[in-house]
Amino acid sequence: MVWMTRLCVGLALACLMGTPALAAEAPSPTPRLVEALAQDAVCTKCHDETDNKPIFSIYQTRHGVKADSRTPSCQSCHGKSNEHVAGGKGLGNASRPAPEVVYKTDTTVNHASDPRIQSETCIACHKGGLRMHWDGSAHESRNVPCAACHSVHRKTDPVLTKATQPEVCFACHKTERAQTHRISTHPLAAGKMACSDCHNPHGTTGPKLLAKDSVNATCTSCHAEKRGPFLWEHAPVAEDCTTCHTPHGSTNAPLLKARPPMLCQQCHSGDHGAQANSGANLAGGNLTTVNGINPLANAAARAQLVGRACLNCHVLVHGSNHPAGAKFQR
Ligand code: HEC
Ligand code: HEC
Ligand code: HEC
Ligand code: HEC
Ligand code: HEC
Ligand code: HEC
Ligand code: HEC
Ligand code: HEC
Ligand code: HEC
Ligand code: HEC
Repeated sequence: MVWMTRLCVGLALACLMGTPALAAEAPSPTPRLVEALAQDAVCTKCHDETDNKPIFSIYQTRHGVKADSRTPSCQSCHGKSNEHVAGGKGLGNASRPAPEVVYKTDTTVNHASDPRIQSETCIACHKGGLRMHWDGSAHESRNVPCAACHSVHRKTDPVLTKATQPEVCFACHKTERAQTHRISTHPLAAGKMACSDCHNPHGTTGPKLLAKDSVNATCTSCHAEKRGPFLWEHAPVAEDCTTCHTPHGSTNAPLLKARPPMLCQQCHSGDHGAQANSGANLAGGNLTTVNGINPLANAAARAQLVGRACLNCHVLVHGSNHPAGAKFQR
């Protein structure tokens, strides 16, 4: 199909303007545009819409806005690659030297460039912003290059769309895939939220690539009503939401690590919470008993175990602003 490509390069503007996405905003044929396309022709004389992988669709992305002088050419990303260009006649020649920068996630395969070289090529234009803390981040230091998440040749990069982003991450994060399929989850499958609502995968100052500096700052950026300060604070809430909640998914709604009363008894073992299990007296044995059984205590004990357990009475477990709310009951 070389003749067709030639025709396309010769009539580059017509070819590009023929693609629907560009038609609407097709720039007037500036010298800049003509020059940019001529530059790409070094590569597009062989790599065109007939390639079995998407190549030309890059012209329908932000990297294809040739009227913008910051836009990369094929060679800004893949290197000049003179030997590759000179190495033969058309596609299908296996002995052709590889281009200077070949983007592959699996860096053990043939031709893949060192992941640092892959990322540095992109970073050259994308320093700062979300990538302020890329150097030394979990992904950078584990050799996960930009192109492990970004598909720059595709018309729509799946990692930039909420609904399709999780699948990109799940390719490597199987545990989180399993967790988000549990009964209680954040609405990721519905496409209302994405991993990047809580994480900045490019690197952060917080733990676990969290978007904000701490777990609580991340959670309360949406759940503001749990931020406090409360008149009566519940220590673990102010400290770390993930003491009781798991962010990705749980079999205990709402996203709880364990069900009350067990959840609460992990810390409240010495008080009436623990005694609930044995049916012991709530007030420590001072109440009137009938035939050795205290009906009130038994009712209380039952209340501690059934349904919402401790939450039957301690309804405001995140903290209370009521003057009499010390025990989180109102
Ligand atoms: C913004 C940087 C960038 C630009 C500009 C760019 N590429 Fe790529 N190219 C990549 C990345 C990254 C990959 C890896 C696959 C992917 O992410 O889609 C790739 C993959 C390829 C592949 C291999 C396809 C495969 O999946 O095995 C070819 C061939 C290619 N590019 C050719 C070109 C040509 C020709 C141009 C100019 C029209 C170009 N590239 C422009 C970044 C770029
Ligand atoms: C004369 C034809 C020709 C030209 C010009 C050419 N290539 Fe290639 N390119 C090939 C062939 C052939 C292959 C191997 C394709 C295959 O294995 O299917 C290839 C493969 C590639 C690959 C995939 C490498 C890999 O190992 O996966 C990339 C990326 C690429 N070319 C980019 C470019 C870029 C960028 C330019 C311009 C600087 C360019 N090519 C110019 C013929 C050409
Ligand atoms: C020569 C400079 C240059 C290089 C190299 C470059 N980009 Fe870009 N990139 C741009 C420009 C310009 C934009 C459009 C930004 C804008 O409009 O603010 C862009 C946009 C993007 C976007 C946003 C796309 C969107 O739809 O919002 C992503 C993601 C991106 N680049 C990733 C990459 C990756 C990954 C690489 C390396 C494979 C790379 N870039 C290499 C210049 C570059
Ligand atoms: C682990 C996956 C992952 C890696 C690795 C990754 N990105 Fe991203 N990138 C994302 C996600 C997710 C978004 C969307 C972020 C958002 O919407 O907040 C994004 C958004 C972007 C954007 C558009 C938003 C902006 O900042 O303007 C650019 C540009 C970008 N990435 C460039 C890069 C570059 C350059 C690299 C390599 C140095 C890289 N990314 C590595 C997942 C990744
Ligand atoms: C509601 C916020 C939130 C969302 C959405 C979210 N995460 Fe997390 N993620 C966290 C928090 C908080 C942690 C650290 C605490 C923990 O692991 O329980 C974490 C930890 C992680 C870890 C590290 C786990 C470990 O054991 O060290 C990975 C990997 C991860 N998340 C991937 C993802 C992926 C992939 C997605 C999208 C499918 C995602 N997360 C969506 C909040 C979130
Ligand atoms: C190519 C594989 C790959 C992809 C794709 C990927 N990651 Fe990772 N991620 C890793 C590796 C490797 C680590 C290092 C920790 C580990 O061993 O799990 C990591 C670590 C993390 C961590 C934990 C950081 C820490 O400090 O412990 C989070 C959170 C995370 N990734 C989120 C994401 C999100 C969100 C996406 C999608 C936007 C994503 N990852 C895509 C490979 C990947
Ligand atoms: C980007 C916004 C956002 C962030 C950040 C966020 N959440 Fe959520 N959260 C939501 C949305 C949206 C829902 C679903 C609400 C609904 O369905 O009514 C939700 C629901 C919940 C639920 C109830 C789940 C259920 O089954 O009913 C809990 C618990 C929760 N989040 C805890 C957390 C924790 C802990 C963090 C921090 C690790 C966090 N959230 C971070 C938006 C967020
Ligand atoms: C001591 C354990 C504990 C801690 C710590 C905790 N929660 Fe909860 N959370 C619960 C329990 C128990 C429920 C169920 C409450 C109910 O059913 O009345 C809940 C319910 C929720 C809900 C859903 C119902 C609602 O009230 O909106 C959200 C959202 C939530 N928590 C967010 C958070 C955030 C954000 C943090 C950190 C600031 C946090 N939680 C810390 C125990 C905890
Ligand atoms: C990670 C440990 C931890 C978990 C889990 C926990 N708490 Fe607490 N709770 C505390 C701490 C610490 C205090 C403060 C104790 C103090 O001031 O003496 C407290 C205080 C309280 C108080 C008020 C005590 C007082 O003397 O004013 C009540 C009521 C309470 N918690 C109920 C619950 C309930 C109900 C649950 C389960 C939903 C729960 N807690 C889960 C650690 C925890
Ligand atoms: C039937 C209602 C009820 C249930 C159910 C209940 N509590 Fe209480 N709890 C109370 C009352 C009332 C107080 C206040 C007692 C006081 O002021 O002396 C209290 C006080 C507390 C205190 C403060 C310390 C103390 O002993 O005064 C903690 C901690 C506590 N409850 C934890 C729990 C836990 C954990 C559970 C679940 C296992 C639970 N409660 C179930 C009613 C209940």
